[in-house]
Amino acid sequence: MTAELIKGAQVAKEIREELKQEIAELKEKHNVVPGLVTVLVGADPASQVYVGQKEKTSQELGIYSERYDLPENTTQEELMKLIDKLNKDPKINGILVQLPLPKHLNEEEVLYAIDPEKDVDGFHPVNVGKLMIGEPHYLPCTPAGIQQLLIRSGTQIEGAEVVVVGRSNIVGKPIANILLQKAPGANATVTVVHTRTKDMAFHTKRADILIVAAGVANYIKADMVKEGAVVIDVGVNEIGKTADGKRILAGDVEFESVKEKASKITPVPGGVGPMTITMLMMNTVRAAKLAAGIA
Ligand code: GUN
Repeated sequence: MTAELIKGAQVAKEIREELKQEIAELKEKHNVVPGLVTVLVGADPASQVYVGQKEKTSQELGIYSERYDLPENTTQEELMKLIDKLNKDPKINGILVQLPLPKHLNEEEVLYAIDPEKDVDGFHPVNVGKLMIGEPHYLPCTPAGIQQLLIRSGTQIEGAEVVVVGRSNIVGKPIANILLQKAPGANATVTVVHTRTKDMAFHTKRADILIVAAGVANYIKADMVKEGAVVIDVGVNEIGKTADGKRILAGDVEFESVKEKASKITPVPGGVGPMTITMLMMNTVRAAKLAAGIA
């Protein structure tokens, strides 16, 4: 059996069409235009690509967008001042500081300074805590996108054995929390495994839904996957460059062999990636509605 592809690019497009309409209506009925600002410090090429995509998508959907490209040697104080200014700017509903920041900057202090109401990344401890206690406010974008892919592909989540490979604050921990919620599109039994797990395959082979955010190219092989599992590959690993300098990407899952065993699988690229930006747009629209008292 060859797995059905979960086409994130297509699902993302559908959600973006829905958002575009909602944004047009917000403007027409309430004169509200959602605003998103992206802040990039330094010149990391992958981060530049991501920020560029976020800016472009905002514009396509009718979201007001601002972009700050700050030099590598920006000081903590300068960055904190900018965040303060953006927190107070009524045109801005969402603030996204692209991670990772250069090493001399204190990432936590920056993320903590963002007004939780404008925290469309869902990284502020207040929003992390709200998710943890079952009152989610803004869900972090990549995990929210994974949940949407599972729901919209008709995957049975309730009661499923979900195994998450990786415990990062951006993906592993929040997706585990989201699917653990006592709520529709969740109610799963969740196991989180990581680099110190004793017998990785023992756990991954039990998964009805296997979510892999390990950051290691082709880490999950077919013999680690249960027949018929739904496999979500969050990996974005650069494994080389084409002759014209484009990045060649591989996921954390060995796609060619695992697709013969899984019932559904996300490709890389075109799986989880396009969903992340779309969920950022969704959070920004929600932030604008909340700020305007329409929700
Ligand atoms: N770097 C990698 N993923 C993300 C993300 O979702 N948000 C931000 N701000 N930076 C990232």
